[in-house]
Amino acid sequence: MKVLIPHEEIVDICKTIGNQLTKKFAGKNPIVSCVLKGAAPFHSELMKHLDMQIEADYIQVKSYVGTQSTGKINIKKDLDFDIAGRDVIIVEDIVDTGTTLSCLKTELEKRNPNSLTFVALLDKPSRRKIEFEADFVGKVIEDLFVVGFGLDYNEQYRNLKDIYILEN
Ligand code: IMP
Ligand code: MG
Repeated sequence: MKVLIPHEEIVDICKTIGNQLTKKFAGKNPIVSCVLKGAAPFHSELMKHLDMQIEADYIQVKSYVGTQSTGKINIKKDLDFDIAGRDVIIVEDIVDTGTTLSCLKTELEKRNPNSLTFVALLDKPSRRKIEFEADFVGKVIEDLFVVGFGLDYNEQYRNLKDIYILEN
């Protein structure tokens, strides 16, 4: 497999986004939620670069697209925190068709948070089926299937420290 993003670059991305979030949420106490499982390494690294009081949380979802373009979401593991009135940062590994995060956004908005901010390590805009734009993106990539640093292919490769292009 070929390395697309070496670990050092991933850490730099986390520092940059961490600094931007630290400025944006100065004096606030956001809930920083990881979308399991893929975003776990990114969430852990990003949190090291958040210089403020935060609360970590975790959510696991599965999205479906039915006949309606909005799609539906199945929450396999919900947030522990009540997010009403809170500032919430959702941390995801990659935005592909946009289904997962647009469905998650619709679901979480119903809970009346004070603000919702979406952060994605990677973005493949050319694959979008549902309009969705994350507020912070680490790196825009082409239409390639990538693995490592949390990203899997059939649950494999999540443990790799770099991000690779999966070639078959
Ligand atoms: P979306 O709902 O189509 O935007 O897809 C988001 C999910 O698809 C991500 O959370 C990943 O789990 C998975 N995914 C999309 N592209 C890739 C990839 O290149 N490698 C690994 N997982 C991917
Ligand atoms: Mg995944």
